[in-house]
Amino acid sequence: MIILVLYSLLSCMISLGGVVGQQNPTISFITKEKVVSIGDSLEVYCQVQYAKDYPVVWTKVNHDNPNNHLFISRGSTTIIPDSRYSVRFDEKQSIYTLVISKVQEIDSGEYRCEITTGISSKVSADVNVFIQIPPVISDNSTRSVITYVGANVTLQCYASGYPPPLISWRREQNQLLPNGMAYYRGNSLRLDNITKDTRGTYYCVADNGVSSGARRHIGVEVEFPPFISIARPQTGQALQYDADLHCHIEAFPSPSVLWLKDGQLLNDNQHYQISIFARSDEFTDTTLRVKRIEKRQYGLYSCRAVNKLGFREEVIELVETVNVVCPPACNVGLQYTSDAFRILSSFLHKIAVPLSLILSTRYIGFA
Ligand SMILES: *[C@@H]1O[C@H](CO)[C@@H](O)[C@H](O)[C@H]1NC(C)=O
Ligand SMILES: *[C@@H]1O[C@H](CO)[C@@H](O)[C@H](O)[C@H]1NC(C)=O
Ligand SMILES: *[C@@H]1O[C@H](CO)[C@@H](O)[C@H](O)[C@H]1NC(C)=O
Repeated sequence: MIILVLYSLLSCMISLGGVVGQQNPTISFITKEKVVSIGDSLEVYCQVQYAKDYPVVWTKVNHDNPNNHLFISRGSTTIIPDSRYSVRFDEKQSIYTLVISKVQEIDSGEYRCEITTGISSKVSADVNVFIQIPPVISDNSTRSVITYVGANVTLQCYASGYPPPLISWRREQNQLLPNGMAYYRGNSLRLDNITKDTRGTYYCVADNGVSSGARRHIGVEVEFPPFISIARPQTGQALQYDADLHCHIEAFPSPSVLWLKDGQLLNDNQHYQISIFARSDEFTDTTLRVKRIEKRQYGLYSCRAVNKLGFREEVIELVETVNVVCPPACNVGLQYTSDAFRILSSFLHKIAVPLSLILSTRYIGFA
């Protein structure tokens, strides 16, 4: 009895199978989607049923021109003349596997497995292939900015890559951004109400988990008129000695620097020597050396700094003193050896150290 039932079940299935064999071809499985890195190999599967007598074709979909799909293979034969492409056919499971080796960026897209069932009828299924591409910061991102105190600017940053990169901002030495944090996320970073402190390097970072990300350094320069600070508004020195007058200037762009006495521009000559040191983009130090001071050289000097945003002038007074002020007087060069010897011997007289000992230790300056 049981055997009979089984037998009839079996024969039923077999006869069903016969009917099924004449069914329309279908695609029973296709790889859902695939994300691969450049250089890797890619495999996508297409399993068909009842398609034994029909051509199974892999194409790459051309969305711009649907009549111009790229034909890759037919059955297990590759049509495309590119050795990176091949098709494997597993007869037992009826699976057509499209294999692309050494994947390139251009391989991303939609691939279609298609069974041509008649002159104008087809069955198809698609699989999307995504190629992981490390972020690259786009050319339309800000490279550098020169602005001025009080202005508003927006720094822009865009990046290509797959998955789409996230853009974030940081500042050199983790200084704070306008949002009050060391970190900001978004394509645009607004810098409102710019001050001198806004100046510096900003980093745009593009990250999508592929590679270590991309980073662009964006320099922000803030222009401002000169500001002068003077450590010693009054500088003293004795007749016949050298005096140095110093000005510390903050300005961007770097200023032109002038020294004047009684409205007269001073130049390097036997009486004066002007030195200018650019400490950084925005700091400039200048020193006027008044050489072997003569009586008429006492008085008011001014240092003047000028850039495109304005100018500033500060005054320093050179006053006569009885004592020699060191430095710069004691830090004498060879032309002043007689003076130096005079100071040295009077000093030695007071403390009664043998001159030979002092000279042998090359002692020249005084505290
Ligand atoms: C910059 O270029 C990217 C593409 O690289 C684009 O998506 C973005 O919209 C562009 N941004 C601007 C402001 O033009
Ligand atoms: C900068 O933006 C602020 C508002 O955020 C505005 O009040 C100000 O006028 C702007 N300044 C300039 C120079 O455009
Ligand atoms: C801009 O900054 C100045 C000085 O820091 C401040 O007095 C002013 O209120 C600020 N303006 C705006 C719109 O934030």
